[in-house]
Amino acid sequence: MKKPMTFAVCGFGNRGMEAYSAYAKNCPEQMQLVAVADLLPERRKAAVETFGVAPERVFDSAEKLFQAGKLADVLIIATQDRDHVPQALKALDLGYDLILEKPISPDWEECIALRDKAVETGRNVVVCHVLRYTPFYSTLKQMLSKGAIGTLRTIDAVEHVAYWHQAHSFVRGNWRSSEETSPMILAKSCHDMDILRWLADAPCHALSSFGHLSEFKAERAPEGAALRCLDGCKVKDTCPYDAEHIYLDHETTGYRSGAHGWPATVLCNGTATEEKIYQALKTGPYGRCVYHCDNDVVDHQVVAMEFENGVTATFTMTAFTRENRRTIRLMGTLGEIEGDMLSHQIVYRPFGKPVEHIDCNNAKATSGHGGGDGGLMQAAFALFSGETGEALTDIRASVDSHLMALAAEESRTHGGKTMVLNQD
Ligand SMILES: NC(=O)c1ccc[n+]([C@@H]2O[C@H](COP(=O)([O-])OP(=O)(O)OC[C@H]3O[C@@H](n4cnc5c(N)ncnc54)[C@H](O)[C@@H]3O)[C@@H](O)[C@H]2O)c1
Repeated sequence: MKKPMTFAVCGFGNRGMEAYSAYAKNCPEQMQLVAVADLLPERRKAAVETFGVAPERVFDSAEKLFQAGKLADVLIIATQDRDHVPQALKALDLGYDLILEKPISPDWEECIALRDKAVETGRNVVVCHVLRYTPFYSTLKQMLSKGAIGTLRTIDAVEHVAYWHQAHSFVRGNWRSSEETSPMILAKSCHDMDILRWLADAPCHALSSFGHLSEFKAERAPEGAALRCLDGCKVKDTCPYDAEHIYLDHETTGYRSGAHGWPATVLCNGTATEEKIYQALKTGPYGRCVYHCDNDVVDHQVVAMEFENGVTATFTMTAFTRENRRTIRLMGTLGEIEGDMLSHQIVYRPFGKPVEHIDCNNAKATSGHGGGDGGLMQAAFALFSGETGEALTDIRASVDSHLMALAAEESRTHGGKTMVLNQD
């Protein structure tokens, strides 16, 4: 029997631990976690106690992990956005194949430097564009490849972030400040840029973008709003962003409603309890009023794009939706396709023929990111072990999607000016 490939994780948080390592735990015959680096003691403890990593292979910084040399076949880098490239460059020098969390970097020069280094060292760098590995988007791609709607001409895609998800990640949480991490269009929507480029099947030629932070700022605060939700806020009962409601009672994210994983584990730095959540709401960033945070990323943005093969696309990202989902319409010369990633449903409307309903909801689709987290791990390990020749998310295509996102941000901050993209 073939030996499992070994992997190490740099950044053992929500993604490194809860998504990828948790998935790998169920596939010990294929992938085995053997080393971890994380700044937080609770997460290092979980590496030893829950994932069985030898204590001498658990490090309290990325630097110490790298100083120990190459400890595994594969390294997963899941630290914060601005640390990815410096760590990835060191890892390539050590000879690791990489699974790298998106975004590669908010800095364009760094994206290019990593792409070039991957080519120079001949190592694989799979960027976690997990959506490509979902049954939903892979069905859309297959339909287009088979010519189901003739020649694709137009795409209309919407990312419904959801009001509670915006509040958690992009107002109170890690991705609230574009200086500290990344602009919204990169942090949240580089996945969408990647999917649009993949479905259009050509690099983007030009784009223009508009968007604003309109709601989550002090002048929009209702009268009587306190600085923290638990500090006697007078609008607590009517405010949908009330932190106690979102983290304790909300149907999707509330601990008391059964949501014991994300986002509760983010507030508690690991295993969540009601007591730890209350403590975090009293003193930590997630208990702050959404109108009184130090956030600057946009809450709605639109991008209009033209691809090199003439396909045109529009993309909308908005915080102001009830559910967190993505919808898409693909329009071609012989028909159209409509899809909703939350329900995993696709409606196929060929011209002059009956409408068909396609259900992509299967056991795989219900796991993390609509099946994308596990799908990516499977595909990356198959690539690294030589079972398949090419990753769906090649670093070069990933760099293209980052260029689109960075150009969209440049356009947005310059009044929507048209950006012509040079892919060289
Ligand atoms: N692919 C996706 O769909 C997806 C979804 C969410 C987040 N992300 C990306 O994944 C990355 C991680 O996000 P997360 O939600 O897991 O964040 P997180 O804060 O839960 O985890 C990051 C971990 O890295 C550790 N860390 C930071 N600097 C370190 C260092 N120098 N050495 C060792 N450990 C270090 C932190 O202690 C933390 O535990 C981010 O870049 C984020 O943008 C990707």
